[in-house]
Amino acid sequence: MSSNSTPYASDYHVPVLVHEVLAWLAVVPGGRYVDGTLGGGGHTAAILDASAPDGLVLAIDRDPEAIAAARARLGEQAGRVIFVEGNYANATEIVAEAGFGPVDGFLVDAGISSHQIDTAERGFSFSRPGPLDMRMGRDTPSLEEYLQNATHGELAYALRTYGDIRSASRVAAAILDAFAKGSLETTADLRECAAEIVGRGAGSGRKTGIDPSTLVFQALRIAVNREIEHLELAVAAVPKVVRPGGRAVFISFHSVEDRVVKHGFRELSRQCICPPGLPICSCDHVSQVEILTSKPVMASKEELQENPRARSARLRAARVL
Ligand SMILES: C[S@@+](CC[C@H](N)C(=O)[O-])C[C@H]1O[C@@H](n2cnc3c(N)ncnc32)[C@H](O)[C@@H]1O
Repeated sequence: MSSNSTPYASDYHVPVLVHEVLAWLAVVPGGRYVDGTLGGGGHTAAILDASAPDGLVLAIDRDPEAIAAARARLGEQAGRVIFVEGNYANATEIVAEAGFGPVDGFLVDAGISSHQIDTAERGFSFSRPGPLDMRMGRDTPSLEEYLQNATHGELAYALRTYGDIRSASRVAAAILDAFAKGSLETTADLRECAAEIVGRGAGSGRKTGIDPSTLVFQALRIAVNREIEHLELAVAAVPKVVRPGGRAVFISFHSVEDRVVKHGFRELSRQCICPPGLPICSCDHVSQVEILTSKPVMASKEELQENPRARSARLRAARVL
């Protein structure tokens, strides 16, 4: 599936906001870019085309399957890509080690790929039974290990914050109880356990129309992969990865992620970090970025018709000063 409104789509993943990414990154021939979330390689392919004939991309993904699939898909164009299995939270170190930066643009398309969700053995799928895994890469413990170590408070926090689960405390207790009894061994068990509690009215606090078991899966995935912490580090790395005048573009799919990007950019753009109430500024702090998008950029109607998954995508861009 690929059309004007969902260009660069593949069976692996349909990239969102491709035209907008190229425009906000201001991709030019010969430029150097970091794609922090290679996935199926859709955005990287678009950047390679727009930066042809000699633009370069350093492409990071924590999932080795993504790197193998994207390398195969890019064919000859892979010659203009440096592939790194790693975490975008470490973008500064990765770019420095590759002797690649500072670059003209840094893209992060946060979250999970369709291929990861659709592969039952990875344990992300709400509709396909699999093991209690949910790891995007080899750099975090699995869901099973997470549940072995999580306290009730930690699990309830994750369910409330990342899944918007109204009775997070009750859901956390039921999950930990089922896990301790050995009746929570697969994602099918997790779905059943979540659905049972949700059936008793402990579901989403908002009328989203989303099955609250989906939100339990989403919250656990974000917690297992420490997605919020990594996103915070990636936003903070922008001035070290990108050259003055270059761009950073972040796409998120969840309000918590979007808040991290919004606040992170705001923090980097602040001119003064003196405590409130000081009569004169004494911090000598300078803003490191200019925020280019006062509101998040959303998918067009045309794109939404082709790819309804794009409805929650929010893009924010900044220029390094
Ligand atoms: C939404 S997909 C990216 C899709 C990609 N833009 C495309 O066009 O196909 C997100 C990808 O980022 C990877 N990922 C998520 N968090 C990451 C992190 N902290 N560091 C590196 N890769 C990460 C996932 O493994 C997944 O492959």
